[in-house]
Amino acid sequence: MSAPSPRTDEFPQVPAELADFRPRVALVLGSGLGSFADACDRIFEVPYADVPGLPQSKVPGHAGKFVGATLGGVPLLLAMGRVHYYEGHTARQIAAHVRLMASLGPDALILTNAAGTLNPEFSPGEWMMLSDHLNLTAVSPMFGGPNFFDMSGVYAPELRAVFRELARRRAMDLHEGVYACVPGPQYETPAEVRMLRTLGADAVGMSTVFEAIQARALGVRVAAFSCLTNWAAGVIDAPLSHEEVMETGKHAASVLSSLLEEALRRGLPES
Ligand code: HPA
Repeated sequence: MSAPSPRTDEFPQVPAELADFRPRVALVLGSGLGSFADACDRIFEVPYADVPGLPQSKVPGHAGKFVGATLGGVPLLLAMGRVHYYEGHTARQIAAHVRLMASLGPDALILTNAAGTLNPEFSPGEWMMLSDHLNLTAVSPMFGGPNFFDMSGVYAPELRAVFRELARRRAMDLHEGVYACVPGPQYETPAEVRMLRTLGADAVGMSTVFEAIQARALGVRVAAFSCLTNWAAGVIDAPLSHEEVMETGKHAASVLSSLLEEALRRGLPES
């Protein structure tokens, strides 16, 4: 599909080390996945605050920065932390870091998030690779255009095949399923969770789809992974806590970090 360029007037002052970097793969690391960065050789760090035009997060644990790094010689750009719709940013602002990363020409974008599991066969502490999504926010980062681009196969089948096979060889429980994105910031009611299950969702969260839509609009391939941090409300008879979500995420992080590390060291398939 043809890839329109990101608007060049959007980031007037990108620090030179970032502007001149040519990552092979870009990754957005959700809260708790910092351990992946520790496996990489860091080249530079640029706080989001140093890039005019990027929105800033106010959520603890989500402070943002770009890290330029290599892993097994592969240049990677990590976006550590993201902003959310529930913080009051527009969908377009939320996808700003993806436009910036896409302008540096990566061959793929890997997204990670925390999500509640809706599928009784997918347990907290396990990972789900997104096969598709439901955007239930009623907004899009592409308001204003481009319009009418194709969203089938947004989570690239050839990337999914690589991760599926690597996970199988490691006997890792990597599920695949549909991620429903809701606006938040509150967790769902049990009735909302029943609705989401009826709609065909396997997991629910408050991020990722704007980034995937933006990447798709720019012709960048996407793979995305949800850390299933909790049973969604009402699936079991216990209230949800943010602390539980953060704690489960920390423990599961190393499993995905090591899968990503192997995939990137081996090299992702060409588009
Ligand atoms: N619902 C929405 N977002 C989430 C959840 C959840 O249960 N867990 C982690 N992020």
